[in-house]
Amino acid sequence: MPGLRGGRRVVYDSGNMLDRRNVFLIGPMGSGKSAVGRQLARLLGLAFHDSDADIEERTGVDIAYIFEQEGEAGFRLRERESIDRLTQLEGVVIATGGGAVIDPENRLKLAERGAVVYLQTSVAQQLARTRHGRHRPLLNDVDQERVLADLMATRAPLYAEIADLTVATDHRRVQLVAEEICAGLGRAPGA
Ligand code: S3P
Repeated sequence: MPGLRGGRRVVYDSGNMLDRRNVFLIGPMGSGKSAVGRQLARLLGLAFHDSDADIEERTGVDIAYIFEQEGEAGFRLRERESIDRLTQLEGVVIATGGGAVIDPENRLKLAERGAVVYLQTSVAQQLARTRHGRHRPLLNDVDQERVLADLMATRAPLYAEIADLTVATDHRRVQLVAEEICAGLGRAPGA
């Protein structure tokens, strides 16, 4: 699984993959990772986990509160622990937080422990999908379009770096995206 990072070629060793059935969804806020992940897990007969929900369950508080109390740095440490633990499970679909790929250790674990699927979406679509919620601290009380565009500029190469498969989600129904992932990974639904 070769990729580019900072102009250097990074080669991930899929030979270490713990469970080839595992599917990890990456992509920005509002790309549909949780909805698609749940559906994909149903189609493939796998268990579904969401790293943000996992962190909330473990801490007993929501992501916004963690950002408030510990800052983004504190949240990223918790996210790293969650990604490490969840990616060691077998037979799972995992929806990751949009910023999980910032951490090189997370990228390595995702790349090596399962098939990584990048849900690609436009900033306009992200805006439409995230506009009404206030549970994403990075989008509260800011120029959302600008923040989403800036995050996309820095993160898009990181998503691409570890993606085994890239699927567009703009204006597409969850079921269709999930089916396209099954086809793209060469997995028959129900198998
Ligand atoms: C974040 C995305 C969020 C959540 C946190 C930070 C990010 O997850 O992890 O608010 O940095 O893009 P979703 O992508 O599921 O919204």
